[in-house]
Amino acid sequence: MRVVLPDGRVEDMRSVFWDDGVVMIDQRLLPGEFRLFRAESVEDVAFAIKDMVVRGAPAIGAAAAYGLALAAVKGEDLEGAARTLGNTRPTAHDLFFALRVVRERIESGRDPVSAAEEYAESVVEKSRLIGVHGEPLVEDGSRILTHCNAGALATLDWGTALAPIRMAHRKGKEIFVFVDETRPKLQGARLTAWELLNEGIPHAVIADNAAGFYMWKGEISMVIVGADRIASNGDFANKIGTYEKAVVAKEHGIPFYVAAPISTFDFSLGSGREIPIEMRNEDEVHFFAGSRITPEGSRALNPAFDVTPAEYVTAYITEFGIFHRSELEKLKRMAH
Ligand code: MRU
Repeated sequence: MRVVLPDGRVEDMRSVFWDDGVVMIDQRLLPGEFRLFRAESVEDVAFAIKDMVVRGAPAIGAAAAYGLALAAVKGEDLEGAARTLGNTRPTAHDLFFALRVVRERIESGRDPVSAAEEYAESVVEKSRLIGVHGEPLVEDGSRILTHCNAGALATLDWGTALAPIRMAHRKGKEIFVFVDETRPKLQGARLTAWELLNEGIPHAVIADNAAGFYMWKGEISMVIVGADRIASNGDFANKIGTYEKAVVAKEHGIPFYVAAPISTFDFSLGSGREIPIEMRNEDEVHFFAGSRITPEGSRALNPAFDVTPAEYVTAYITEFGIFHRSELEKLKRMAH
C-alpha cells in the first residue's frame, strides 16, 4: 500500500510483515501518528490483535500466522500458542482459518517463517483478485458508500471493499467515496480516509447517522463493505452499523456488495444467528479522544459487530469472482 509518512516521504508497505519478529503499522495511532509496533513474543502478537494495533479480519489472520511462526522459531508449544492467539477476538473467521492452515504447514515440517510468509502472500493475492473481479461493478461516476475499514490496513495490501475502488480509480474512473466514520473506534474516519487520501481518491467522511440521508437524496449509487464472518446461507457479520446501512440501501434500491476472501466464509455455520459476536469494553463508547462523553454512572453497550441477513446482499465479491446468494453452495465446493 502507498503510505505517505508524516515527513512527506512515500513508501510501499504492508500493514503487517516479518522482520525477525512481527512488525505492524500501529492502527491505534493513525492518522495523527505513524509508528510501527514490534511483537517479539506470541503474547505481544495476542496483545496487538486484542488491543487493535492490527485489525480487520484478513490482517488479524496474517498477524496470527506470523505469531505461530514466532512460537515455532522459539521452540514453543504450537498448541498453546494457537490457543493464546485464538483467544483474542472471536468474530473474525480468518483468525481461526490462518491458525489452522499455518499450524498444519509447520507441523508437517515446513520452515515456520516461510509458511507464515506464504500465508501472508496469499492474503495479498486474494485481495488483489477481489479488486480485479469487483472493479467492473464500479462504474464511471459511481458514488460509493463504505463502512469501517476494509482496506489495505485490514488485509496487508489492496483491501477487500477498497480493492475494487482502488482499481477503478487507477483505471481512471471518476468515483467518489462516502466514508462512514464508524463509531466507536472510528476505523472509517481515521483509517479508510487515510488510505483514500494517500491514493488521491476523492472522498468525504460522514457521521454514521448521515448515510441514510445521502441514500434518500439519491447521492449514493452503490455500497461495498467487508465481512468478518459469512455463514453458509450468506448472512454475514461486519462492523457494527453495517446492518442498518444494508436495510436502508435495499429500501432505496441501491446495490449492496460484500467483498471477502473464502477464508472469511465459515461453512460450518448454517446462519448468521450462530456467529459469535465480540462485545468490547464499554469505555470505548464512554470515552472520545480521551475525554468521557457519557455521565458517570451511565452504562454503555459495545457490540463490535452486527449480522446482516443474506437477503440484503446483492452479491459477494470473492477471489473466485462474483457470487449471488443462490450460488454459495458452488463457492463452498470451490473452497474445498
Ligand atoms: O473491529 P475491526 O476493525 O477489526 O472490524 C473490521 C471490520 O469489520 C472489517 O469490515 C472486516 O474485518 C473486513 S476487513 C477486510
